[in-house]
Amino acid sequence: SRPKVFVPNQIPEQALRYLQEHCEVDYRDAEEKLSDAELIAGLQDAEGLMIYSRQKIEASILEHAPRLKVISNIAVGYDNLDLAELTKRGIMGTNTPGVLTETTADLAFSILMAAARRIAEADHFVKSGQWEGWKPSLLLGKNVYGSTLGIIGMGRIGEAVARRAKGFDMNILYYNRSRKPDAEAGLGVIYTSMDELLQKSDYVVVLVPLGPSSTRLIGEREFHLMKRDAIFINVSRGATVDEQALIRALQEGRIAGAALDVFEKEPVDKNNPLLQMRNVVTVPHIGSATLETRSKMAEKAARNLVAGLSGQIPVDLINPEVIPSASSQKKWG
Ligand code: GLV
Ligand code: GLV
Repeated sequence: SRPKVFVPNQIPEQALRYLQEHCEVDYRDAEEKLSDAELIAGLQDAEGLMIYSRQKIEASILEHAPRLKVISNIAVGYDNLDLAELTKRGIMGTNTPGVLTETTADLAFSILMAAARRIAEADHFVKSGQWEGWKPSLLLGKNVYGSTLGIIGMGRIGEAVARRAKGFDMNILYYNRSRKPDAEAGLGVIYTSMDELLQKSDYVVVLVPLGPSSTRLIGEREFHLMKRDAIFINVSRGATVDEQALIRALQEGRIAGAALDVFEKEPVDKNNPLLQMRNVVTVPHIGSATLETRSKMAEKAARNLVAGLSGQIPVDLINPEVIPSASSQKKWG
């Protein structure tokens, strides 16, 4: 019989049809996140689960999912999954790298430019009827072209942002746990220490995946090192930044502005001081949000789920140690 899978939220048509061809699908055509109780109810006899990254999966959920074999995340980030718990229980986890790289880089660059040229402020200014005529000092911004960009986290998305920055003749510095000789040769990006990057960049963009070593990677000390006219951009996860330190840096004018796709708490609290700041551009975690890319992500997630349930190793397996042969290969490889 076909494996039972639980899909608690709306996914694009084609991915759903693919799943229905291979599995018995409990599908909820809903946009809202499920409560833990609803999730647990749906997991009683499910062997597969396909979710968006806002859905946290911890031991307290997994202990009610006795038959679960695969959790397919429709996202590149997987900080919502307790991987050690998954592995302990023999559950495979998968993500969707690659297909959202360019789309997310587009968003990073758009909010960088929006902050630099005060686009959101200018839009509000015109639409609210405040425009009374051209003025020499109206809405002066900051050059993007020819300036220095610092990329923290040179993965796929970091490289895609660097390719865009090249078109703007930017000097590109990067910091990453490992050096990227191919990116250095191919894109002319320059590896620096974190501190040097912070001291020299006009724009600092964070693109590291969230994990124990990147939690609050950017805090008080880091904002102190940045230029006073620097703009800080975060398109990774809110928790890579100490948000209170960011707020203080902005309030005290120690940096010039910020552009944020992600927040420590999502949705962001209505009284968060960031929402009162004109020099902060905010967007609601829409890095990968295009119709085409969301379809590709869901299709990739569906293929990962079906592969895992049919005894294959999914191409985007994130905890290979769950498979004894794969982990012994890793040990000797
Ligand atoms: C979304 O934030 C993702 O990780 O794909
Ligand atoms: C995402 O695909 C990344 O590795 O940056």
